[in-house]
Amino acid sequence: MEKNILVTGGAGYIGSHTVLQLLLGGYATAVVDNLDNSSPVAIRRVKELAGDHGRFLTFHQIDLRDKPALERLFSRTKFDAVIHFAGLKAVGESVEKPLLYYNNNLFGTITLLEVMAAHGCKNLVFSSSATVYGWPKVVPCTEEFPLSAVNPYGRTKLCIEDICRDVQHADPEWRIILLRYFNPVGTHPSGHIGEDPCGIPNNLMPYIQQVAVGRLPHLQVYGTDYNTKDGTGVRDYIHVVDLADGHISALQKLDDPKIGCEVYNLGTGKGTTVLEMVAAFEKASGKKIPLVMAGRRPGDAEIVYASTEKAERELKWKAKYGIEEMCRDQWSWASKNPYGYGSPPDTSQS
Ligand code: NAD
Ligand code: WQD
Repeated sequence: MEKNILVTGGAGYIGSHTVLQLLLGGYATAVVDNLDNSSPVAIRRVKELAGDHGRFLTFHQIDLRDKPALERLFSRTKFDAVIHFAGLKAVGESVEKPLLYYNNNLFGTITLLEVMAAHGCKNLVFSSSATVYGWPKVVPCTEEFPLSAVNPYGRTKLCIEDICRDVQHADPEWRIILLRYFNPVGTHPSGHIGEDPCGIPNNLMPYIQQVAVGRLPHLQVYGTDYNTKDGTGVRDYIHVVDLADGHISALQKLDDPKIGCEVYNLGTGKGTTVLEMVAAFEKASGKKIPLVMAGRRPGDAEIVYASTEKAERELKWKAKYGIEEMCRDQWSWASKNPYGYGSPPDTSQS
């Protein structure tokens, strides 16, 4: 075994894919997750997909804010590094319930950092987001762009980035990498693990997927008058397996004693419109996605995509997959698991 990694939020969408890549890469991996927005089935499937390597996976149902439970885990096991995914991520919900987001995301992170420091584990990779670029004036977004938050969720990301910078500045033994993800989509090509949002999805790809399997009648296209090639919003969609691999590159970069607290974009550097994504998904799935053209969604930016130069140069990482593979794999997951990790609702009584 190469190293022992703790993954917070490892039962979730990006976490489960990263845990699989870690196991396959020869890392022993412990997952901490309170299962607030995930299913234990994801952990079981990751273990199966990892084959022989699956025996190096352990799961601990712990809320990050439960400091005594986290202390017990760190007392039992020595971790070489932590990848910190755990957090709440729904933008709209964060506007309605800001205290829930500040409590969960900030206290969870602070508790984690305190326990890590107390146990001498000072290597961290944190899930930040392109949301910290707010509404960028120009694209592609480079890591040096001015930062701003346009909702409470985004403010938790900005604040955690600042906390990490402060912690590393105060104690240079810390080595921290902040990864700013653009729009993660797709699933493992097996179609056995994927994203399983609770309720009606907020994000484009899970929404398209639920229309394709007949759970929702149509997709609303939010905004057709943007200054883009077809009038719809442009984003940098990145295959979740590429994203997961970016975390392995970041872990390797933590071996550099001079890393300090460094930030990297994880995107493809390519912009895709909503209508281009719909067309790619229709092609991959053979399903027609009925569309309703709607007004702009409040708070949406027009065009967001990443500059990938810094990650390519310093992490030696570059996304391999395009939107064809993203849609192909998303459909593989959707067609095998139309109700995600759960079962269809029982309508026999109605
Ligand atoms: P997800 O909801 O699927 O995974 C997050 C996991 O964290 C869930 O399994 C949840 O149960 C767990 N969790 C939440 N609060 C916890 C707590 N207090 N203690 C223990 N576990 C807790 O989300 P995801 O899409 O996999 O995102 C992972 C991370 O990446 C998040 O921090 C998110 O903000 C960030 N991110 C996601 C996206 C995206 O579009 N999916 C984009 C940029 C950044
Ligand atoms: C993409 C495009 C929509 C749904 C969000 C968060 C961001 C980050 C990633 C965590 C936009 C359009 C969408 C629909 C649509 N998450 N759309 N109909 O808004 O870029 O980013 O997820 O950090 O913080 O804000 O992603 O998938 O919601 O939207 O037309 O039903 O699809 O308007 O142009 P977004 P998204």
